[in-house]
Amino acid sequence: MTDPVTDGTAAAGKPTAASRTTLSHIMTHNDTNLLGTVHGGVVMKLVDDAAGAVAGRHSGGPAVTASMDEMVFLVPVRVGDLVHVHAQCNWTGRTSMEIGVKVMAERWNESAPPTHVGSAYLVFAAVDEQGRPRPVPPVIPENEDDRRRRQEAQIRRTHRLARRRAIRELRESRIAEGLDVA
Ligand SMILES: CC(C)(COP(=O)(O)OP(=O)(O)OC[C@H]1O[C@@H](n2cnc3c(N)ncnc32)[C@H](O)[C@@H]1OP(=O)(O)O)[C@@H](O)C(=O)NCCC(=O)NCCS
Repeated sequence: MTDPVTDGTAAAGKPTAASRTTLSHIMTHNDTNLLGTVHGGVVMKLVDDAAGAVAGRHSGGPAVTASMDEMVFLVPVRVGDLVHVHAQCNWTGRTSMEIGVKVMAERWNESAPPTHVGSAYLVFAAVDEQGRPRPVPPVIPENEDDRRRRQEAQIRRTHRLARRRAIRELRESRIAEGLDVA
């Protein structure tokens, strides 16, 4: 399979650093669940916000969340924690971008290095004023970490497409067998 970035045929792209973003937020009592720790949905909103900022910057215009997957919560976030959401564009297709997000928390009462509390991968589609997908510039990886993230994103992309295709085919075959209605 040809790769426009590595074979040098890609249109002028944008380096990863041009859109890399960090969003920081202090957690308050408004953000808690019944256990008193921070609600996962609050962290997901920050993840979507940070990824959206990267997608908008990379594509130079509006972009919408098409999917969010592999959202993992590793350690609870607590009230008072200073949360940093680091996001960068890992991969670009024709009109879509995968944004990788890493969530770190600094405990309000500990002078220790930030704790990795979660991460996620989101796909954004760049859209025009009518909400139709529009082309994005290729992302140009700048170091080995960026290149590894790009290769891993390509694997996730392949799996997303295969999973969607397999489920669509299963649904179509169940309808054809009369097991489900269209
Ligand atoms: C995302 C959206 C623009 C895709 O539109 P579409 O008509 O399906 O267009 P396409 O099939 O050409 O998809 C556009 C790109 O998005 C990608 N994409 C679409 N759905 C996807 C999904 N579920 N997961 C991953 N990628 C997806 C496609 O692979 C394509 O990428 P490529 O051009 O780089 O190959 C459209 O589904 C949409 O507007 N969804 C709502 C988005 C939204 O409102 N988000 C906020 C939620 S409140």
